[in-house]
Amino acid sequence: MAIANAKQYLEQKLDKENFAKVSVLNNDKLFQFIADSIELTKPAKVFVSSDSAADVEYTRKQAVATGEEKALKIKGHTIHWDGMEDQGRDREVTKYMVPAGETLSKALNQMDRNAGLSEVKGLLAGSMQGRTMVVRFMTLGPNNSVFSIPCVECTDSFYVSHSLDLLYRRGYEEVKRLGAKAEFFAILHSSGKVDERMVSVEADKKRIYIDYSTDTVYSVNTQYAGNTVGLKKLALRLTIRKADREGWLAEHMFLSGVFGKGGRKTYLAGAFPSACGKTSTAMLPGETILGDDIAYFREINGKCMAVNAEAGIFGIIQNVTEKDDPAIWDVLTKEGEVIFSNVLEKEGKPYWLGMGIDIPADGENFSGQWTKGKKDAKGVEIPCAHKNARYAVTLSALKNCDPELNNPNGVELAGMMYGGRDAKSYVPCQQSFSWEHGVVSYGASLETETTFATVGKEGVPEINLMSIQDFVAISLGKYVKNNLDFGKKFKNAPLVFGVNYFLRDKDGKFCNGVRDKHVWVKWMELRVHGEAKCRVAPTGLIPCYEDLQKLFKEVLHKDYTQADYVSQFTIRIKENLEKIDRVVQYHKDNVAESPAEVFSVLAEQKKRLEEAGKKFGEFVSPFDLPEQK
Ligand code: GTP
Ligand code: MN
Repeated sequence: MAIANAKQYLEQKLDKENFAKVSVLNNDKLFQFIADSIELTKPAKVFVSSDSAADVEYTRKQAVATGEEKALKIKGHTIHWDGMEDQGRDREVTKYMVPAGETLSKALNQMDRNAGLSEVKGLLAGSMQGRTMVVRFMTLGPNNSVFSIPCVECTDSFYVSHSLDLLYRRGYEEVKRLGAKAEFFAILHSSGKVDERMVSVEADKKRIYIDYSTDTVYSVNTQYAGNTVGLKKLALRLTIRKADREGWLAEHMFLSGVFGKGGRKTYLAGAFPSACGKTSTAMLPGETILGDDIAYFREINGKCMAVNAEAGIFGIIQNVTEKDDPAIWDVLTKEGEVIFSNVLEKEGKPYWLGMGIDIPADGENFSGQWTKGKKDAKGVEIPCAHKNARYAVTLSALKNCDPELNNPNGVELAGMMYGGRDAKSYVPCQQSFSWEHGVVSYGASLETETTFATVGKEGVPEINLMSIQDFVAISLGKYVKNNLDFGKKFKNAPLVFGVNYFLRDKDGKFCNGVRDKHVWVKWMELRVHGEAKCRVAPTGLIPCYEDLQKLFKEVLHKDYTQADYVSQFTIRIKENLEKIDRVVQYHKDNVAESPAEVFSVLAEQKKRLEEAGKKFGEFVSPFDLPEQK
C-alpha cells in the first residue's frame, strides 16, 4: 500500500538534515518510493547521501564500522565476504514480474506481477529494523548527457553503498538539476537477517524481482554485488526496455581504445557472457579501457556513439597476475580505494586463486576461519578463495583508463565483437560479411558454457543471445530485431567480429593462449582502417597467415607457425552445421518473433558450409580458402 502524503511522511521519519537533502530534490515519485520503502522495511535510521565528500566518507567509514568490510594493510583497501550460497548472480531467484495479460519469451525467468510483489514485499517487511537505510543517488552513463539515467537505491548495506561509489557516477546533483522531470530507476535492497560476520544467512529466501512496469527492482537476503548493486545487471534489464522504447541499444559489452599506426585510437566493443572475457579484453596492456561490462550505443549525427554506463570495475580476480595483468595489478597492490570480495585474508593481505604466488594454508575467507583441507556441508573441499572472488575499483584509478570516460557525447564506435565459451565450432577470430550476418551468426547464435559467475553447475553448454540473454526484459526476438535495425541507421555501421578464446583441439586443449586476444584485437584495428587482407570462409572473413605472423611478433614477440594457423583456423564443417541446427531449433523453441533474417542468414551460412564440405571435406584448411579481392 502506498503512503498517502509521502513528503509529509518523510518529514516525520527523517531528521532535519536528511529531510532537507531529500526535499530539495522536488520529485514526488522519488518521495513516494523512499517513503514506501521506509514504511515497508522499518529502518531505525535513514541516511540520505548527497555527492558531498563528507557523505561519501560516511559510507566508507560505516562499511567498516558495521563489519561488512574489514580494513586491509594497504591504505584504502578493504575486504568483504558474501555467504557460502551467495557467491554469484543467482538466475533461479531473479525474475521479471509480469503484469496480467503480458508475456515475455519463454527463456526468460518470470512470474505473475501481483504474486511476485506480495512475495518479495513479504520478505522485505521489517527487514531493516534496527539498521540504517542509506539512500543513494547515482547515474548510469556520463552526467549531463543524452545517455544519462538517474537512479536511486535504498539499501541497508554500507558495502553496497560503498560499491556504488566505486562503480558509478554520483547523481545527487543530477537528480536535483532534473527535479520533477527526473525519470529514475529505483532499487530497494535489504541484506535481510545477517550473522555475526554481517553475512546474509537466509539464502533460501533470496529473491531478486524486477518490476519493469514501474522501473523498480527489489532484492533481499543477498549481498553479492551482482544481486544487490542495483545499477549493475538489475538496472540493465530496465535500461534495455528504455532503449527499446527510445530506439538505441544497451549492451553487455566492454569498450576499449585500441592504438594503431601513428598513435591513432580506434574504439572497439565486445560482448561476452559472464566470466568469458570482457574485462580481460578491455584490460589489454598498452590499450585503454573505457568500460568492461555495460555499454550504451546511440546514433548521433550518423555516427555510432558509445558510452560506458558505469565508472568502475567489479572484476574477476582469479588468475589476475602481475605479468599478465599489469594495469589492474598495479591498482590492487598500491594505496587507493579497493574492495576485495570473497578472497582469502591473512594478516591484512588478500590472496586469490591463480595469483602466481604462494597462498597461506590458513586465514579467513568466505567460509569463515579457513585452513587448507576444510570441507563444506556436502564434504567438498573449500578453496582458499572463491573462483568468482572479485575486486571493485574506480576506473579513474587505472593508468590505462580512457580519457573520454566521462565525455557526455561518448566515443565513436568502429567495431564490435561477440564471443563465448565455444569449445568446438567457431574459429578464434573472424569478421562478418555484413552487420546482419554478424549480429545473427555471432551474436544471436552465441553458444557458451555456464561458468562460476552464476550460482549453479559449471560447464553446461547453452545458447546466450548476444551474451545478454539473462538481462533482456523484452521479447528476445524484438531485442534481436532492434540490433538488426540499429545497424541500418548508418552508412558505415561498425564492423562486427566473432571471437572464440575457448576453442579446443582434438585433445581437448585450448587452441590459444590467454594473450592471443591482443593479436585478434590489433587485427580488427587494421581491418577497420582497411589495412589487413582476409580469406573468405563459410562463417566469415578470417585473417591471413602473414598478417597474424607479423602481429604475433609485434604484439607478443612470438613466432606464429603455419601449423598454429591451421590448427586454429581450420573450418570444422560438421561442428558448424550442427551448431546451426542447435541455434535454429533454439530460436524456434524459445525466441518468440525471431526476425526472418535470423533464419535466412543462417540458411545461407549452412549452404556455404555444405558447399565447402563437398569441395574440401570435413576439415577445411584456411590455406584452401580464397583471399578476398
Ligand atoms: P564478468 O565480469 O562476470 O561479466 O566476466 P568477464 O566477461 O569480464 O570475464 P573476464 O574477462 O574477467 O574473464 C573471466 C575468466 O576467463 C577468467 O577466469 C580468465 O582467466 C578467463 N579467460 C579470459 N581470457 C581467456 C582466454 O583467452 N583463454 C582462456 N582459456 N581463459 C580466459
Ligand atoms: Mn568483468
